[in-house]
Amino acid sequence: MQLQRILQSQGFGSRRLCRAIVYSGRVTVAGAPALDPSAEFPVGDLHFTVDGEEWRYAEHATLMLHKPAGYECSRAPQFHASVLELLPVPLRERGVQPVGRLDQDTTGLLLLTDDGALNHRLTSPKHHIHKTYRVGLKHPAEASICEQLLGGVQLNDEPAPSVALACELPDPLTLRMTIDEGKYHQVKRMIAAAGNRVESLHREAVGSLVLPADLAPGQWRWLPGFEA
Ligand code: URA
Repeated sequence: MQLQRILQSQGFGSRRLCRAIVYSGRVTVAGAPALDPSAEFPVGDLHFTVDGEEWRYAEHATLMLHKPAGYECSRAPQFHASVLELLPVPLRERGVQPVGRLDQDTTGLLLLTDDGALNHRLTSPKHHIHKTYRVGLKHPAEASICEQLLGGVQLNDEPAPSVALACELPDPLTLRMTIDEGKYHQVKRMIAAAGNRVESLHREAVGSLVLPADLAPGQWRWLPGFEA
């Protein structure tokens, strides 16, 4: 693929802009300066730099972010910054979107992708992707709260009870729960329906993907070849 098209596909701007980036000597490919925008490169495992920053060609960009509190999962946020502001401009430019939504005050594992089919697979209720949350409770709870959640709690305006697939109470103010749906404010509403209140909410895992301990809030990481 031509270098100018490679850069364009990776979110570096229009073909005209990418040509200018190359002509001005800001690009290296496989460690060597690249000054010809029409030069052809095989894209498999292609490494390049723009202004000294390292990139790897990826047909689709799929990544995980440790979402900090105070960010909205929307391209057009209303009251806080968008999580997309935590990503480099080329990733935003190529249309990376959050997979589902976390509330602005929820922290933890958020996937983002520009692969529409993958996004759909991960969010579609048909696919029952498991999500595990650590919940800080307002009131000390007893083990019976897990029985309630595992048995299903009725949320307003929902036709059927919402059920936790797994639940544990490591201490009276901390609950860990797994669900496979993504209804609006689902965890907060389930905890309220069980007679308590969420003080803090952190997503630890999506499917088999666990938030790495060394990924600090606000940091992101590529997920090459991620399949739901
Ligand atoms: N459930 C909630 O209530 N909020 C989230 O952010 C995620 C799940």
